[in-house]
Amino acid sequence: MTLITSDFTRPAPVATHARGSTITAEGGEASIDACSGAISCNVGHCHPHVLAQTIAQLKRTDFVYRTQLTSAPIEELAQRLCARLGYAGALFANSGSEAIEAAVRSARLHWALQGRPEKSRILSRSISYHGSTELTLSLSGHAPRRRDAGIHDTGPIVPTPYPLRRPGHMTLREYGTACAQALEDEILRIGAGNIAAFLVEPIVGASGAAMVPPEGYWPQVRAICDRHDVLLIADEVLTGLGRTGAWLAQDHFDLKADIVALGKGLNGGYAPISCVLLSGPVLDVLRRQETGLRLGHTHANHPVSAACANAVLDVIEDEDLVARASCEGTRFGQALRDACKGIGMVAEIRGCGFLWGVELSLPDHSRAPFPAQFAMASKLVKAASTAGLIVYPASGFIDRRAGDAIILAPPLNTPSAVLDVICSRVADVLAACDATTLMQEKAYA
Ligand SMILES: Cc1ncc(COP(=O)(O)O)c(C=O)c1O
Repeated sequence: MTLITSDFTRPAPVATHARGSTITAEGGEASIDACSGAISCNVGHCHPHVLAQTIAQLKRTDFVYRTQLTSAPIEELAQRLCARLGYAGALFANSGSEAIEAAVRSARLHWALQGRPEKSRILSRSISYHGSTELTLSLSGHAPRRRDAGIHDTGPIVPTPYPLRRPGHMTLREYGTACAQALEDEILRIGAGNIAAFLVEPIVGASGAAMVPPEGYWPQVRAICDRHDVLLIADEVLTGLGRTGAWLAQDHFDLKADIVALGKGLNGGYAPISCVLLSGPVLDVLRRQETGLRLGHTHANHPVSAACANAVLDVIEDEDLVARASCEGTRFGQALRDACKGIGMVAEIRGCGFLWGVELSLPDHSRAPFPAQFAMASKLVKAASTAGLIVYPASGFIDRRAGDAIILAPPLNTPSAVLDVICSRVADVLAACDATTLMQEKAYA
């Protein structure tokens, strides 16, 4: 009898204590959580306000079923998110994957209710991750995860801008335009009459290690979508609510998607809850369905998760964490670049706010990727863990196989001194790694 995990060869250490930006495992020292778990614990671990509010709600009502009763915390959460982020309606689910499924169904229904049910296809991009259900994985470009699920390997083909590896003859702006043009080409090829929406991460999170597109890309994409009656769905499950130094990553580009999905940053890692935000025009159409939206899961609108999310929002507001992520995040990124200067294995450090990717390459300063079979990202994660630093791996973003990076995404209230320790430990780990020896080590999943 065993707990089934993603790795039968190495049982995970048992966590015994988590506070702020640190986690302690049985028999070990405290490690710095430099990636907020799965880039979700945005306000740190065991924040007293979140704990107090969650426990208080549990004592009032545990669960009420959304078709029978509503609750004060879920009503408050919907109001706050819509007011803060500029949307007209909010619906809730439990995970990011479910939110993306609900966003897709909302987009399709939006067209069906206008007598255009054939407008149902969803376009998405080559470097992307939208969830682990069959639908969301099939819309994700992340090939290793698709392969594991037995979903065939071709995947979405609208290119995700990947500035580091753009064709040498193109300026950043030209490259952004070419990537936007590829979307329009694809819409024309399939026929706009068959397409409901374009699903995107405004800044690519885990699948591309904090890829920020060139300036000018998003305005062009928005215009193309408008021109062809294609809704834009922003997957802000990872980037939403402060992670990138703005309330939403789309805000960096003055972009406004028609539908937005939130998840990790909304629940802060405390209790599962995710959200879909609908713009006024989309909601107006969906209101024509008199029965309301039949999208719910049993535990959607859970009062305890909602109380938790309200408390996470309180902390983000009270501690001014969006502004902090912007300002201190810029300093953190620069400190990271300074600390890693001259390390041959570092191809690029990219990102913004509290979301940074360190892309790894062969240690000869050529920036050529490691062959995929060496699983270098996982090995670096392991080396960092031995040095008391929890970081997040990214891989498979080059030609659907290669590409290795580690992601640094600490809680938004991580003290500045701890951010400095993260930078120096990352640099020490990378500098101490002998790439040739690492390549020969057995590769784990
Ligand atoms: C951008 C993005 N979308 C969707 C998801 C899926 O969220 P969940 O794992 O909560 O289902 C993730 C998870 O990593 C994500 O990063």
